[in-house]
Amino acid sequence: MPQDPLNTVQPSRPVHGGIKEAELRALGLRLEDCLDFSASVSPLGPPEGVAEAIAAVDLTAYPDPHCLALTEAIAAHHIGDGVSIGNVIVGNGSTEIIHLLTRAWVGSLPAGSTSNALLLTPTYGEYDGAVRISGGSVSTLTATRCSDGFAWDTVAVTAAIAAQRPALTFICNPNNPTGVLMDRGQLAMIADAAAGVGGLLVVDEAYINLSERRADADVIELAARHGSIIALRSMTKDYALTALRLGYAVASEPVIARLAALQPDWSVNGLAQAAGLIAIADAEYLERARQAVAASRDCVVERLTALGIRCYPTAANFVLAQVGDAGRLRDDLARRGLFVRDCTSFGLPDCIRIGLRPVEDCERLADAIADLWNEEPQR
Ligand SMILES: Cc1ncc(COP(=O)(O)O)c(C=O)c1O
Repeated sequence: MPQDPLNTVQPSRPVHGGIKEAELRALGLRLEDCLDFSASVSPLGPPEGVAEAIAAVDLTAYPDPHCLALTEAIAAHHIGDGVSIGNVIVGNGSTEIIHLLTRAWVGSLPAGSTSNALLLTPTYGEYDGAVRISGGSVSTLTATRCSDGFAWDTVAVTAAIAAQRPALTFICNPNNPTGVLMDRGQLAMIADAAAGVGGLLVVDEAYINLSERRADADVIELAARHGSIIALRSMTKDYALTALRLGYAVASEPVIARLAALQPDWSVNGLAQAAGLIAIADAEYLERARQAVAASRDCVVERLTALGIRCYPTAANFVLAQVGDAGRLRDDLARRGLFVRDCTSFGLPDCIRIGLRPVEDCERLADAIADLWNEEPQR
């Protein structure tokens, strides 16, 4: 497996999806006329009752700084995995918890470390950004790419941990943007390697609840009892609470206490806490969301494949498609009010990532791509 000794990840702020006001103004578009395929969230929109719960929040009251009711509800949701409230921290999106992790761990290097954090790339840019803001250094292990998709070699990952002794190893599972899913056995091996050097394995499960294959992979139970693994969840993604931002982590009590000590009070606002309580109580929502994701994925893959565009296999609620000049296609679609993620910042300038929206929206996107392909087949 090729490693990245040159550390080619750029030391700038990470690039993210989402629609920016400045671009809408430049294109003369209104947000309400656009479809956002660049932020991969549940295609169902927020669960029923969320709007009413938000409207009922007393805007003059500070939110609970401990998020007690939501922490209890999350622990109860995972009770079958041995999770109690001391194993849970709620954050202003899982991104806040990524930053708490790097602030807490980057300064405490295991003896003999050669880098603060090991990243399995290509992956979510915030890990690199957070480590660098915390004053740390990053090393990367890049996936091999073949026609079947992307893969990391677990043995190479454990060897890299043993050699570099990183304080933090980040794995996004399923991975953004490749859609690759590691199974629990592989992650347990990697967690043991991290434990062996006094480090922590961070498994970012932002997309796992929307994956049909989650049962083979989720590490909540492992995280609650293994002192060297933390699982991150994004309620932003799971329940389309995108404007509110909400996430949480599950880990052993000492790991959670170390993060809680650094978290600013009131970082999770009252609207997000109220929405989270309604969302997690909705027992059917995630299964319906997974069914919607599967239908949209089949639609996108079928339509794009028919145009000769390769779609990589995905265990997540997005599709990585190899389209040639990704930046140009992204801009051509944006002019039509359709926003996809150009994957150049991931080191994949020939790919776009399509977050799966409802089937009718996916059909509209596929129609637009087909028009562009018909105009110019050799893009
Ligand atoms: C892998 C991954 N983790 C976390 C996040 C951020 O989620 P949140 O809104 O919970 O901070 C994203 C957003 O794109 C992501 O792709």
